[in-house]
Amino acid sequence: MMEIVHVPVMYKEVLETLVPQVEDAIMIDCTTGEGGHSAKFLEKYPKLKVIGLDRDRDIQKKAIERFKDYKDRFTAVNTWFNDYLASRESESADLILFDLGISVFHYVESERGFSFRKDEKLDMRLNLDSDLTAEVVVNDYPEEELANVIYQYGEERYSRRIAKRIALERAEKRITSSKELADIISQAVPREYRYGRIHPATRSFQAIRIEVNHELDRITPALEEAVRVLNVGGRVGVITFHSLEDRQVKWFFKDRSTGDDPLLKILTKKPIIPTDEECETNAPSRSAKLRVVEKRRSV
Ligand SMILES: C[S@@+](CC[C@H](N)C(=O)[O-])C[C@H]1O[C@@H](n2cnc3c(N)ncnc32)[C@H](O)[C@@H]1O
Repeated sequence: MMEIVHVPVMYKEVLETLVPQVEDAIMIDCTTGEGGHSAKFLEKYPKLKVIGLDRDRDIQKKAIERFKDYKDRFTAVNTWFNDYLASRESESADLILFDLGISVFHYVESERGFSFRKDEKLDMRLNLDSDLTAEVVVNDYPEEELANVIYQYGEERYSRRIAKRIALERAEKRITSSKELADIISQAVPREYRYGRIHPATRSFQAIRIEVNHELDRITPALEEAVRVLNVGGRVGVITFHSLEDRQVKWFFKDRSTGDDPLLKILTKKPIIPTDEECETNAPSRSAKLRVVEKRRSV
């Protein structure tokens, strides 16, 4: 029996704001994962169809299994969302959802070294056809480049110390497991940071994962294509999990919603954040922000 391990973040808020304008709406779920959000839309709107994207074949198999009884109301496409949207014709969808980053599945089931709490091979790829793995980033990037990745994508203030320590260790022996890497990072940072609010490897692991999957390079191009692909009156919703993602979304929406005849109307003046109750019961939701826009005219 397939187990669903990810709880969809702010699904009530997503349903309240991502409202289709027509009965037989087409929704593109750009980050389907196990299908938590897609399931809510398929249940709520009996004539809506979902095109469910994910670059990760393993998690996509779970969504395909979950929605098999929906027949042609759910279509899975294995692709990066920016590539898919770029290839799709203009004004051909009513709702587009992005729930960025990775899923609980990746931490607990994928066995690809996403979690610093597990002892797994350092991989972190969503696209298993790619050659760039976390092991390559950690062992083969020059020390300075590694420090930059950890600083820019992790906003980690001890990036240089961490990269230096990694360089010392890898000169002795290649670093191949998530546990080894987490231990090395813990040893590199000051004592008070080691026992701080978050695990000392949290930011570095996030950074390496972002580098491996080029996550931040895909967001703005995907939004650009999303607003082209959207029908007039259609809506785009984006859930982000850290400031590097949110900044891109915020500025993109802001830029296209000002002036004389703006393309977009912002429906969330301030981003929507999860309730205290959700933050308590679903830890991954804590840093989430939801922004929603409506398309006002053709591009
Ligand atoms: C946060 S999870 C989505 C969870 C889902 N909304 C749910 O409630 O079950 C993000 C998913 O998007 C996929 N993903 C992340 N970035 C992607 C991209 N640029 N293109 C395609 N899939 C991506 C990941 O593999 C992951 O399964």
